Amino acid sequence: MRKIVIAGNWKMYKTQRESSEFLQAFMPQLESTPQEREVVLCPPFTALSAMSTSLHGSSVQLGAQNIHWENSGAYTGEISGEMLTELGVRYAIVGHSERRQYFGETDETVNKRLIAAQRHGLIPILCVGETKQERDADETEALISNQLAKDLVGVDQKKLVIAYEPIWAIGTGDTCEALEANRVIGLIRSQLKVADVPIQYGGSVKPNNIDELMSQPEIDGVLVGGASLEPDSFARIVNYK
Ligand code: PGA
Repeated sequence: MRKIVIAGNWKMYKTQRESSEFLQAFMPQLESTPQEREVVLCPPFTALSAMSTSLHGSSVQLGAQNIHWENSGAYTGEISGEMLTELGVRYAIVGHSERRQYFGETDETVNKRLIAAQRHGLIPILCVGETKQERDADETEALISNQLAKDLVGVDQKKLVIAYEPIWAIGTGDTCEALEANRVIGLIRSQLKVADVPIQYGGSVKPNNIDELMSQPEIDGVLVGGASLEPDSFARIVNYK
């Protein structure tokens, strides 16, 4: 059976204090969440330490929003696997479209970060997805195949999560139709060597579309930005029906 992974990507939101306030309101809402749903929170680096302490002994896992490929070195502004694992971090988002778009992330650096995450025992969440222009030009399948082929060289697919995140759906409220997300995720799965890699959908996931998305057979979870910032809304997503 494929694992269900529901992750909140807080991006550059929430101070340490705001993160604690979130957990106070969020955690009590997980009491009847089915155990097989893996819930992951990916706060900014500055909140990881305090959240790690608060989440100790709970079922919620911590994720980072990035990881550098070297163990240490002169890489201003980057973070290493050891710095993350010391805090009990279990997941790392790699290749998010915002990193590709604004910070020069390429398939080559994405590949190095994936390998580094696994070397440190972290499960990377690899993000792939097309722009509106690429979709309109019928290039979605080719673009994603190309990203997967380059990003996954030398990566152990048994310790991996993939997120299909169409860029036009991120932060726009313009969610990809559930059936279409299901179709693309099926295509992604057909290119993998390992059958049970959890594949998430991401892009304007909200309390009002989560049930339909999760009813699709290929969708194994979601990567949530905006709607993960508010405890009640993320709790509703995690407790999808
Ligand atoms: P969104 O972001 O849910 O705000 O669209 C998703 C993401 O960027 O992972």
